[in-house]
Amino acid sequence: MKNIIVGILTLVIIGLMVFTFMNGPAYHGGEHGKVIKDFGDSMNNAASTKVEEKSDREKEDEKLNALREKAGNAGAFEVSQAYKSKCSSCHGVNGSGEQNGKKLMGPKLFGQSADKLYKDLTDFKSGRKENMIMKGLLIKLSEDDLRTLADEIGEFPARAKEAKNR
Ligand code: HEC
Repeated sequence: MKNIIVGILTLVIIGLMVFTFMNGPAYHGGEHGKVIKDFGDSMNNAASTKVEEKSDREKEDEKLNALREKAGNAGAFEVSQAYKSKCSSCHGVNGSGEQNGKKLMGPKLFGQSADKLYKDLTDFKSGRKENMIMKGLLIKLSEDDLRTLADEIGEFPARAKEAKNR
């Protein structure tokens, strides 16, 4: 009787070994390996996106510097990192709504009052004013963020004047 049980157990164990072997050893391929590999891939992707983002930012800085040089400081002024990274691609580095003379996707913000900008932003966020692009962007920003951005953009003309006088 004992021998029969041991025999069956041995068969089961050999069966499991064959099964595991066919599926690939757990830590060298097979599903486990695949998950680990996928995870590794996405980590790599995340890392490379970060690098791209950084070089984009650097490019933006370069453009801003070029613009400064070209305009002899007129029209170019410091903006917050938040504005630069989230808004400038569509509304221009200084809110002009254009870049190198080409119209961008977003309208000109330069010269609009902080209160009007804030109202537009909260309207987009709440859906009172419909625009998928702006709404999608603003979902992640709090009312405070919007207030800060609106106040900043409202200050652009004053900043431009200051930069010119520098
Ligand atoms: C992907 C492009 C894109 C980005 C990025 C973007 N916008 Fe816009 N924005 C638009 C477009 C397009 C409109 C015009 C929508 C409309 O009028 O229906 C708009 C409209 C606006 C308006 C209303 C202006 C007006 O005169 O009607 C404000 C204010 C504004 N954006 C602020 C911002 C701020 C602040 C950010 C950064 C947080 C930002 N936008 C980022 C595309 C963008």
